[in-house]
Amino acid sequence: MASIDIESVRKSYGPFPVLHGVDLTIRDGEFIVLVGPSGCGKSTLLRMIAGLEEVTSGEIRISGNRVNDLAPKDRDIAMVFQSYALYPHMSVADNMSYSLRLRKTAKEKIASAVGSAATKLGLDPLLERRPKALSGGQRQRVAMGRAIVRQPKAFLFDEPLSNLDARLREQMRAEIKKLHADLKATSIYVTHDQIEAMTLADRIVAMHGGVVQQVGTPLELYDTPANLFVAGFIGSPGMNFLEGRYVVTGEGAGIRLSDGTVVPVARRTGIGPDAAVTLGIRPEHVVISDSGMLEAGVELVEPTGFGIILHLSLHGLPFKIFTLDREALSAGPKVRVDFPQKHLHVFDEKGNRVD
Ligand SMILES: Nc1ncnc2c1ncn2[C@@H]1O[C@H](COP(=O)(O)OP(=O)(O)OP(=O)(O)O)[C@@H](O)[C@H]1O
Ligand SMILES: [Mg+2]
Repeated sequence: MASIDIESVRKSYGPFPVLHGVDLTIRDGEFIVLVGPSGCGKSTLLRMIAGLEEVTSGEIRISGNRVNDLAPKDRDIAMVFQSYALYPHMSVADNMSYSLRLRKTAKEKIASAVGSAATKLGLDPLLERRPKALSGGQRQRVAMGRAIVRQPKAFLFDEPLSNLDARLREQMRAEIKKLHADLKATSIYVTHDQIEAMTLADRIVAMHGGVVQQVGTPLELYDTPANLFVAGFIGSPGMNFLEGRYVVTGEGAGIRLSDGTVVPVARRTGIGPDAAVTLGIRPEHVVISDSGMLEAGVELVEPTGFGIILHLSLHGLPFKIFTLDREALSAGPKVRVDFPQKHLHVFDEKGNRVD
């Protein structure tokens, strides 16, 4: 196992910069999840750690040793891709043992490594099959098995579950979590999936436009997003945003919205009176109440089974509520809402969190 240090790492393809200086320290045994929109540089960063992509500048260290110029095979890292990239003409067992056979590992050692990985992944009955006779989930397990048998210092996963249907993803997600609890191998996992990121990560790294926006535990990113990007990206349905101005009232403070309503907030330091701000509140934190301070039009009611998503129009802007209260099913055409202070987020003109 290994720690991984990424220091001032930049990447350009020709004149086009893709990563603008990434600094990140991944602890031994940690499970890190990289999230961010398409094209933000997640795969590029992962591929540089694996050695599949050259580092333009900066340094990558594995267990303290600089690996910038080390070939992928000498980095002792296993990568699991979205496309499983199994050899179609080989059995499951041969796919799994391929890298060990390449390294001329002793036969008994190979058999025991493949056997124990197969048992962990529930692949015992499938060892003689070819990939084409497997389901997507089973192929994904073989791809994981192939990585595990190598006992690498670290695992890199690039959206390994995105080809699977929702049910299988859920199942494999739990299996990956168990596997990590078992192997305790340093892992970096790229995903678009909110739930995967929140449930798997020791720490999440949120990226946008080739820049790391925030690094923290899932709940740190959910509770105290560092900026508007992270606030909008983490959580589903996404956080609501309203433009306003920060006002200082007698003993407290508030955000004055476009219609003149002042939403009380806790005093913020580091922001002046009348500064333009964005107020953020998550759909699950909005309270529907007959005495609520704001009125909103109900545009759409979406039952999810578990709860209900109300699509509202507030000051002409889209606004969402998520509630477990089934009475909301018959809401409309207007509802009144309240914003509990402890759930309010305030962002300055640049989009950075103000506490
Ligand atoms: N070989 C290449 N040559 C030029 N540009 C590239 C190359 N590979 C990637 N890029 C660009 O680098 C940026 C980052 O790509 P990357 O694949 O890392 O994104 P990503 O975050 O993994 O996105 P996705 O979620 O869609 O997989 C993109 O704008 C992409 O077009
Ligand atoms: Mg990618």
